[in-house]
Amino acid sequence: MKIFSFYLKESKKSLQKNKKFFFIKEVIGTKKTTLLLVKILEKITAHKDLHAKFLNTLSYLEYIGARKMLKSLPAPILNKTFLDHINEEVRHSLVLKNLAEKLTKTSYGFKKEELIAGAQGSQYFQEVDHYGLKFSSANPVLNYLYTTYAIEQRAIVLYSLYNDTLKKKGFSFSMKSILNDEEEHLDYTLKQIQKEDSSWETNLEEISQFEHQKYFSFLISLEEEVSKFILAPHIHSLKAKHYTSSHKV
Ligand SMILES: [Fe+2]
Ligand SMILES: [Fe+2]
Repeated sequence: MKIFSFYLKESKKSLQKNKKFFFIKEVIGTKKTTLLLVKILEKITAHKDLHAKFLNTLSYLEYIGARKMLKSLPAPILNKTFLDHINEEVRHSLVLKNLAEKLTKTSYGFKKEELIAGAQGSQYFQEVDHYGLKFSSANPVLNYLYTTYAIEQRAIVLYSLYNDTLKKKGFSFSMKSILNDEEEHLDYTLKQIQKEDSSWETNLEEISQFEHQKYFSFLISLEEEVSKFILAPHIHSLKAKHYTSSHKV
C-alpha cells in the first residue's frame, strides 16, 4: 500500500499544479481507478514483452486519435492548429512505437497479438467519440472538440501515472514531451469549446463522466489481459510464433 500512496501523492501533485484542467479533479477523483492503473503499470513494467505491448497499444490509441481527427474535421476548416494537432498525435504514436521496438528490438504493426487489450482500447475510443456526437448535431467541429477534451484529459492522467512509474523504476525514457503536448491540446480545446458552445460546462461534465465509466471498463479488460500474460508469458510473448489472428484497425 505504501507504493500506492507514493503514486497518489506524486500524481495528484503533478496534476493539480495545473489549474487549467477544469474537470481533472473529478476524473482522478476515483481512488479506485488510480489505484487500479498503478497496480497494472507495476505489473506491465516488470515484463519487457508486456511493456513493449503496452507502449505499442498507447501508440495504437494515438494513431486512432489522429485518424479520427482526419475523418471528422472537414477540409474547408482544416487550419494550421488542427493540422498541428494531428501531426503531434502521429508523432506521439511514432515515439511510443519506437520505444516499444527499442525495448524488444522487434518491429511491430498493430496486430492483435502485438497489443494488450487493443480491441477494448479502440472500443473505449469509439464509444466516447460516439457520445460526443450528442453535443454536435449542428456543428461538426464540436464532436472533435468534446471527444478530444475527454480523451486528452484522460491521456494526461494516464501518462502522468505511467511517467511516475517509469521514473520510480529507473527507466531511461519518460513521457514528458508527450505530456507537454497533451497539456497544450487540452488548454486549446477547452478555449475552443467555450467559444463554440454556450452549454459547454454541463456538456463537458457529462462527457467526462461518461468517459470515466468507459475508461474503468477498459482498465478492467487491461488488468485481465495483463494477468493472462503473466500466467503464460510463453504463449502471449511477442516472440511466440503461433499467432492465429490478425486485428483489423
Ligand atoms: Fe497524444
Ligand atoms: Fe493530444
